[in-house]
Amino acid sequence: MAVPAHVAIIMDGNGRWAASRGLPRVAGHREGARAVRRAVEAAIRSGVSWLTIYAFSSENWRRPLGEVLDLTGLLRRYLRTEIAELKANGVRLRFIGDRTRFDRDIQGDLAAAEHDTQRNIRLNLTIALSYGGRAEIAAAARAVVAAALAGQLDPAKLCEEVFEGFLATAGTPDPDLIIRTSGEQRLSNFLLWQSAYAELVFLDVLWPDFNETHFAAALSTYAARERRFGARTG
Ligand code: IPE
Ligand code: IPE
Ligand code: MG
Repeated sequence: MAVPAHVAIIMDGNGRWAASRGLPRVAGHREGARAVRRAVEAAIRSGVSWLTIYAFSSENWRRPLGEVLDLTGLLRRYLRTEIAELKANGVRLRFIGDRTRFDRDIQGDLAAAEHDTQRNIRLNLTIALSYGGRAEIAAAARAVVAAALAGQLDPAKLCEEVFEGFLATAGTPDPDLIIRTSGEQRLSNFLLWQSAYAELVFLDVLWPDFNETHFAAALSTYAARERRFGARTG
């Protein structure tokens, strides 16, 4: 069975999970953080080398302040409680997105987590936080222009490969498989450049209920797909 090297997940449905139980939305987010642990374990056991998870979009700042505070509070707690275990499991952590929008202490924890896990090689885990694909591409374009104006880059030599080097995901292979939970069928500004040839799998499970069986089901759907990358086969 073809195992994707890079799986990316749009973790959606926390609010609906809570609502269906008559609980506040924060209860869904709390349970969603537990599902992240199951996804990481499933990725390691399946032999996936890269896992990218969409935890908070640049647009999610538009949610009511109370929910934003709940989410940043959970992030703070996750960073303080999970890092040791991720480190012990050989997980290398990276974060993409505009981290300057988070409180200083969180920014410090993000940098420390990246630093403390930089030698790990079992699983590359990227967490997208305050991330938006368009913002990422615009930031890369700004950096390209600055490099060109500084005389460090010849605009005539700007090809796809060079441009990729300016994205937040530089050095990361493109996702082979993107999974979205909760039944919604859209990318919501996730990895727009990188998803050009990703296989998309939409699961009818709410993120807090996500487990290893769902992960395995998505991998077998992926294995049954024929990837052509524009080239004709047969
Ligand atoms: C995903 O769950 C978590 C975040 C986007 C932060 P939602 O909070 O979007 O849950 P639904 O889509 O309202 O059910
Ligand atoms: C996408 O989910 C962002 C994350 C999963 C972090 P949303 O719930 O924010 O997306 P929309 O609003 O349904 O498109
Ligand atoms: Mg949602």
